[in-house]
Amino acid sequence: MNKKNYNIIKTKNKKISMITAYDALMAKIFDEIVDIILVGDSLSMSFKGDKDTLSITLNDMIYHTKAVKKGAKKTLIVCDMPFGSYLSKEEALRNAVRIYKESGADAVKLEGGEEKAEIVKELTKNSIAVMGHIGLMPQSVRLEGGYKIKGKNENEKTKLLKDAKALEKAGAFCIVLEGVKENIAKAVSESISIPTIGIGSGKYTDGQVLVWSDMFGFFDEFKPKFVKRYLDGAKIIKNALKEYVEDVQEGRFPLEEHCY
Ligand code: KIV
Repeated sequence: MNKKNYNIIKTKNKKISMITAYDALMAKIFDEIVDIILVGDSLSMSFKGDKDTLSITLNDMIYHTKAVKKGAKKTLIVCDMPFGSYLSKEEALRNAVRIYKESGADAVKLEGGEEKAEIVKELTKNSIAVMGHIGLMPQSVRLEGGYKIKGKNENEKTKLLKDAKALEKAGAFCIVLEGVKENIAKAVSESISIPTIGIGSGKYTDGQVLVWSDMFGFFDEFKPKFVKRYLDGAKIIKNALKEYVEDVQEGRFPLEEHCY
């Protein structure tokens, strides 16, 4: 693990920035600008075209993490453990070891709170760095019948606080809080000493994460409320592509300077 990044994630001194990447091309662009690159299982939706994250496999995650590692040589790389790959302690350890050995990831991320604490403990006990993920957990979308914001009542608040504590105790180095009401995300962040990284959870978490294709406007059919668009990517590409097609049709490309 890169020492500089290790220090960033171990302290709460500076807001942490994390972005997803799934290939070497984008990873190379993002390298050293952000603190952490997450090879998220959002890969399934953003790039594989699936309706949720559940179909992505361990082999898919390893393949993409290897590519990201090649592109981003300086940034801390976290690989999501896909749905169904950490059902027991033994299976989680076996699969996390595969991720470490085959992809070179610096850490793994898995969804779940108190109920997954034993698994997190097993991994950290065996020298695997674990990022937790609680609140709205996309891998539970079919169980919950949709993507449900968390922290809307006292029970949910109590559960989130317990989950965060359990993950911290189990050795997680950091926790993603997804889709959590802002005041509850604040309470959770203040209740633990490891950093929290929010997505759709307001401004009081210790860092933020966004899916790159959402923030750069490449996934343009729908924009979740929590996403800030930093680029109109799809529009820019489509316009450039139309220009290329016109150039080809009108004989403006290739020109002499493009020929051998
Ligand atoms: O898969 C993913 O991209 C994630 C982030 C949204 C946190 O888990």
